[in-house]
Amino acid sequence: MFRFYFNSEKWNPTREQWLAATRCITTKELERIHRFVFQRDAKSALVGQLLIRFILSKAFPQSSSSFVVERTPYGRPQIISNPSFDFNLSHQYQLVCIAGTFDGRVGCDTMEYRVNASRRDSIESTANLLQREFTPTEYDFIVRTSSDETVRFQHFHRIWSLKESYVKWLGQGVGYPLAQLNFSIRTREFDSSQPDQIVSDTNLEINQQSVRDELRFDEQIVYLDDNEQQILTVCLKPTHQCQPFVEVSIEDLLNARVPLNTNENADENWWLLFEKQKLS
Ligand code: COA
Ligand code: MG
Repeated sequence: MFRFYFNSEKWNPTREQWLAATRCITTKELERIHRFVFQRDAKSALVGQLLIRFILSKAFPQSSSSFVVERTPYGRPQIISNPSFDFNLSHQYQLVCIAGTFDGRVGCDTMEYRVNASRRDSIESTANLLQREFTPTEYDFIVRTSSDETVRFQHFHRIWSLKESYVKWLGQGVGYPLAQLNFSIRTREFDSSQPDQIVSDTNLEINQQSVRDELRFDEQIVYLDDNEQQILTVCLKPTHQCQPFVEVSIEDLLNARVPLNTNENADENWWLLFEKQKLS
């Protein structure tokens, strides 16, 4: 099992780095990346592509054959040429993360968990908006276990990320009836004195049937600057070891050696397009 994350918020790409990265990515993906309005989204999408390449270099260190990664009709990137390895990536807020395994499928999601920016809405208005997507157990966990609005938003994002990790494990897109999924949280709070803590005792019932024998959910907090936190959630077979995500640097990503069918030449135009994307 492989789990990696990158903080794209902290990365201010240089021209050299951006062009080096574009050489590792297919033209189709580059066109998608440069269509985003904001640089933040372009960076996350580009890092996602680099993380795919990075995880393949770790999973297949000896390989000299070429990998073909394509999206399913639902948009999920998968290795067409070697389906024994499954991976899934996610990007939101500051982080981009990826998990991959040779043992079954994997679903991965990340969300902000604790942020300093003040909220415009109360949790009640947010949860009411999504009430039809949460079960009464989940709704209670979000709204009733604490009167502290920060904690309530943490619980909201935690359940949301669990649901997303399952939907992404399935490989379907929007449209899955999320209220059929009922997550019961046992470990309510993470222990900040153990930064690599993995909580794996959260249970999922689908239509009142526990799936404990088939699926496990690993949840981890990444402690960011300024006391902020982000949650990383993985849906996987229970046979896997619990292991934390490992942070990688831009050098790690750019130096990964993996034969992917990509562009040989740097095209200055990609950097010009990136510079034109908006900062915020
Ligand atoms: N299944 C699994 N993974 C998918 C996917 C799919 N159908 N489609 C795309 N992905 C991968 C891609 O790698 C994508 O990144 P990329 O486009 O840069 O390559 C990445 O997952 C996006 O994941 P994430 O960053 O976590 O985005 P998201 O949280 O917006 O969710 C979907 C992605 C596809 C699952 C989303 O469109 C969706 O359907 N979400 C569930 C709907 C919902 O209502 N959730 C609310 C929960 S309360
Ligand atoms: Mg997500």
